[in-house]
Amino acid sequence: MMQALVESLFLGFWGKTSLVIVALSSWTCGSHAHGLPSYVAAVYEHRVTLNPEPRVPLSRSAALRHLRQNLQVYSKQASRAALQGAQILVFPEDGLQGFNFTRSSIAAYLEVVPDPQQESWNPCEDPQRHPNTEVQQWLSCIARTHGLYVVANMGSVQPCSRDSGSPCPPDGRWHFNTNVVYRSDGLLVARYHKQNLYFEEAFDTPQHMELVTFDTPFAGKFGLITCFDILFQQPTVSMVEKGVRQFIFPTAWMNQLPLLDAIQFQQAFSLGANVTLLAANIRSDELIMTGSGIYSPSSAVYHHAQRGDPEEGQLVVATLRPLGPLPDAPALQVVLHKEQGYTEVRGCRSAGCKGPLSFTSSMMHDPFTFVLLNRPGGQLSVCNGSFCCWLQYQCMDSNFTEVYALGAFAGMHTVNGHYSLQVCALVKCAGGDARSCGQEVLEAQTKMDFVLEGTFNTKHVYPSVLSSHYTLEQPLLHTMAHGTVTMAHSHMRAGLITAALYGRTYHLDLH
Ligand SMILES: *[C@@H]1O[C@H](CO)[C@@H](O)[C@H](O)[C@H]1NC(C)=O
Ligand SMILES: *[C@@H]1O[C@H](CO)[C@@H](O)[C@H](O)[C@H]1NC(C)=O
Ligand SMILES: *[C@@H]1O[C@H](CO)[C@@H](O)[C@H](O)[C@H]1NC(C)=O
Ligand SMILES: *[C@@H]1O[C@H](CO)[C@@H](O)[C@H](O)[C@H]1NC(C)=O
Repeated sequence: MMQALVESLFLGFWGKTSLVIVALSSWTCGSHAHGLPSYVAAVYEHRVTLNPEPRVPLSRSAALRHLRQNLQVYSKQASRAALQGAQILVFPEDGLQGFNFTRSSIAAYLEVVPDPQQESWNPCEDPQRHPNTEVQQWLSCIARTHGLYVVANMGSVQPCSRDSGSPCPPDGRWHFNTNVVYRSDGLLVARYHKQNLYFEEAFDTPQHMELVTFDTPFAGKFGLITCFDILFQQPTVSMVEKGVRQFIFPTAWMNQLPLLDAIQFQQAFSLGANVTLLAANIRSDELIMTGSGIYSPSSAVYHHAQRGDPEEGQLVVATLRPLGPLPDAPALQVVLHKEQGYTEVRGCRSAGCKGPLSFTSSMMHDPFTFVLLNRPGGQLSVCNGSFCCWLQYQCMDSNFTEVYALGAFAGMHTVNGHYSLQVCALVKCAGGDARSCGQEVLEAQTKMDFVLEGTFNTKHVYPSVLSSHYTLEQPLLHTMAHGTVTMAHSHMRAGLITAALYGRTYHLDLH
């Protein structure tokens, strides 16, 4: 099935010229965890009711009055999800209290969340065991009432002592951005403290990095990560390397085109790490937050609000096959046989071809080296130092009025976080001039068939194809030896915004 698809794609649009797939190891569409059948997952994109004065401390009862407004929405959505057969439901990061608290103003919202490894607690059944746990009781009862797993994000507190000499903040308490998971009977089964905070002055970074997973009877194991975590080695990639294949991702993600729109990176992570991702985002026009979905390496069911849509929540439900640990056998092997044209271009690339037409333009604060696509079809390459990207493309209509460029960037991203990148990106430029390449674009009409390739110093490369009006396309992906990653796509359903291979050179991050 997959083999037939790959062949028809390459042969179809390459026609006589160049590429033939000759060998594929046997392919099954997903190794099924424990032979389990399909399951139904749901994520809820939530328009959080905000505290209008988040920096002003308030009483616990006032905080609870606020939290209840959001919890009531959670209850209603859980009921809707259960009616559609959902076995697990994920709510977004900050979905209960909102944002922009100070360390003191968030205090009234926080609850002590006991460690489920240390004690077995069902807050819905046993609400008296721990004081001031109204949010946990509510969430546990949602799970129990509707008979599904519930994942939510909340603020938690842990008192600590500065006497013992162990680290402890001056006010004697740790504040954590926390994911909690309740089993379908209400039992607390997992607790995860966000490792990679993103300008959250109310919260502390945990002293010890935790890899937190939980088991389900319907799909096996899930790993927990939160928002910014998805860009880093710890804990995300460590879990992938330990064989975790299914991830839960509450997020409050501010969209940034052309490379980091929410659904674009959600898909990219699922494809690049070959995992399932259940992603729930906040819905806020002011904060440019929308984009939630349920992704597997072969499917994407998602929601992304469009400009002018009413600002409201959205439930996304999808049926998935459980993904179990990969067998030790080698991964899918694809051998590409190339004929001459193809090889020549790559020869040029390996010689470090820096065409006279290349220019530098900033994309998401990084100085990309770009070349313009100045014909309706052809091949080109661009390098940033020794890091090179190569493109073969054919525009599918003769109206070649929109400007596209191929960009390469290898270096440290330093704005709003430090992380090391190697990126190949084919983007639509915002205007007619070169300086506009790399700026945000929302609409495009040009459809093209293409193969985008880069040779990376990392095996962690996240591919995505984003089309006009926030639609995703499912590309074909090949990882070959020596870090070469090839993404091929044809038959686009909408105009191309960005096709990217987003490489993360984690080993070059500053620690
Ligand atoms: C992705 O996972 C599937 C099983 O779920 C496996 O068959 C395939 O080889 C993996 N692909 C890669 C590139 O590792
Ligand atoms: C939070 O603060 C940032 C600036 O620090 C501001 O841009 C944003 O609008 C604020 N959000 C809310 C919900 O108040
Ligand atoms: C990429 O290009 C930028 C800007 O031209 C340059 O400063 C940087 O050194 C280049 N990166 C590499 C790896 O050569
Ligand atoms: C070509 O595309 C532009 C927009 O990119 C559109 O305005 C124009 O009408 C198109 N022309 C033809 C002949 O399709």
